[in-house]
Amino acid sequence: MNIGILTSGGDSQGMNSAIRAITRIAIIKGHKVTGIKKGFQGLMDGLFVPLDLRDVGDILHRGGTFLQSERSSDFYFPEGQERAIAHLKEASIDHLVIIGGDGSYRGALALFQKGIKTYCLPGTIDNDISFTDYTIGFDTAVNIVVSLINKIRDTSTSHDRTSVIMVMGKGSGNIALHSGIASGADAILLPEVPWCIEEVCHSIKKGYDRGKRHGIIVVAEGAGCGSTIAKEIEKRTQLETRNTNLGHVQRGGSPSAFDRIFASRMGDKVIECIENGIAGVAVGIEQNEITYHSIKDVLNNKPDFNYKLYEIAKNLSQ
Ligand code: F6P
Repeated sequence: MNIGILTSGGDSQGMNSAIRAITRIAIIKGHKVTGIKKGFQGLMDGLFVPLDLRDVGDILHRGGTFLQSERSSDFYFPEGQERAIAHLKEASIDHLVIIGGDGSYRGALALFQKGIKTYCLPGTIDNDISFTDYTIGFDTAVNIVVSLINKIRDTSTSHDRTSVIMVMGKGSGNIALHSGIASGADAILLPEVPWCIEEVCHSIKKGYDRGKRHGIIVVAEGAGCGSTIAKEIEKRTQLETRNTNLGHVQRGGSPSAFDRIFASRMGDKVIECIENGIAGVAVGIEQNEITYHSIKDVLNNKPDFNYKLYEIAKNLSQ
């Protein structure tokens, strides 16, 4: 069999680990592997490269995706999809593995509905895909955020300051929630839970009254604007407040051991699906088991939000 692999949408740490696992396991089992550069755009443009065992050497520990990635609007239209299908047929690629977030899953479903055997792996730092407890890159991103908040806390303490820290996540508060708990934040603002500025200010004030020398507020990008929130906190509490938007550093750097192992396990599962004739599926991890569900079901279900974890975070910040 000839198996194509592409990475699409925002990159995430561990995509390389997944590409390596898929390539090596496929080749060892006697299949051919073709890398598709630059996501769906590369698929429409026929940017194909054959992959061998050595081509995926020395990438396991590297951030980014060596196949590169792109967000391609042309692929939403039938003409773009037909161009992609023509290139796949010409290169005799029978199976296509797509590593990316929900937008990439939609592209995979469109191709599957047009007769191409597609498979998805959740590659996004946002952890916003249903039927998987984690997405590839999320653990690394959370660890990066925690290490950066540690640094911000040092300087905040020296100056008795409050720091608002904006993190990525698109419409999901998972990066903020997990990094907020791991950093002992005074408040965590998420798109999933309504919040009010009075409560945030109250929580910061309470901390200072108890002798804390800093305030840490983690804001998910879908929950509000960090600089506006920082100004409002300063106005209401009279405490000097700074905003830091962590930005794309969250998406770079070497993947954590967790992301590498989990991406490798998912790579193995996708080859198992291909060999067993199970197409149109997305691989995930549920309670430490590698599982799969139809791409359609994954897209039709809202990802679970862990309200219990949020309650723990609230109690811990009292
Ligand atoms: O989906 C991953 C993500 O990093 C989101 O958290 C963020 O909103 C978005 O991508 C940023 O996109 P770009 O890299 O195109 O600026």
